[in-house]
Amino acid sequence: MNDQADALRNKMTRANTTSEKNREINTKVIAVVSGKGGVGKSNFVVNFSLGLQNSKKRVLIIDLDIGMANIDILLGQTSTYSIVDMIQKEMSIWSVIENGPSGLSYIAGGSGLADIFEMDSGKADFFYRQIESLTKEFDYIFFDMGAGVTSSSFHFLLSSHEVILVTTPEPTSITDAYGMVKYINLKEPELPISMIVNRARSTKDGKHTSQNVLNVTKRFLNKDIRFLATLPDDEVVWKAVRAQQPFYLYAPRSKASQAIQKAVDRYLLDGVKGNESKSIQSFLSKLKGFIVQ
Ligand SMILES: Nc1ncnc2c1ncn2[C@@H]1O[C@H](COP(=O)(O)OP(=O)(O)OP(=O)(O)O)[C@@H](O)[C@H]1O
Ligand SMILES: [Mg+2]
Repeated sequence: MNDQADALRNKMTRANTTSEKNREINTKVIAVVSGKGGVGKSNFVVNFSLGLQNSKKRVLIIDLDIGMANIDILLGQTSTYSIVDMIQKEMSIWSVIENGPSGLSYIAGGSGLADIFEMDSGKADFFYRQIESLTKEFDYIFFDMGAGVTSSSFHFLLSSHEVILVTTPEPTSITDAYGMVKYINLKEPELPISMIVNRARSTKDGKHTSQNVLNVTKRFLNKDIRFLATLPDDEVVWKAVRAQQPFYLYAPRSKASQAIQKAVDRYLLDGVKGNESKSIQSFLSKLKGFIVQ
């Protein structure tokens, strides 16, 4: 197992020293959330990450869904270890990172996940050191937050560099998305939020939904949200879920996969424009601040 961890680390380091040689590598930490559950967060995270990998970005997904951690199931894999094992058994983060399809790295959630948000200071220090060891190894780290965001897991969300909010066009999902923005805005008004409208029946449907949310958050919260993309309601998504394969690989030419590709392209383009320096250290120092409080 340690050999496997070493091999993964060596592979990542090699990638660093060759293609990334003189470039300062920042790591952007992104929390993917929704108000209402079951709107497609996990599917978005997995397929968007595969799209980013396709554009030569190095991505790590960490499953922080307390209710039902299921990233490994979506990827058609059985994970050996989870983030819970890492903390409870004090294992190196490199030995709990799994190698998913197309070389996508992920850490499974595992049962007892809620407890990791209530770490004592010894465990918390160990946790910080492990996360710190990811410095310069990944361009993006995604937290799949699940629907059940508790007050402690909220610290992970608020410490992230960016939030991606997923909603569907359903009024209940929109209302809950607004509630989530309101809460984030209260605690961390500067935190950038981008929005994905998933399961849209048409482009118009998606535009209408996003306009609706953007207008309301601007008007009542004075918060600007960036609209990232509309993803269509596509039966390929549930077919792929049943086949336990990410739809981006299962049906690369499907409408859903094309929409993911578009979202990735736009995201990367905007990222270059902003080009903020985001680091694991800035994420950790914020997280430590919350946990001390
Ligand atoms: N674009 C889509 N088109 C069709 N079906 C979709 C789409 N996105 C999601 N689904 C369906 O919704 C289900 C739930 O998706 P997913 O597990 O990604 O949601 P979630 O937001 O992560 O849920 P939870 O809140 O429980 O974590 C999928 O199994 C799939 O059947
Ligand atoms: Mg999920």
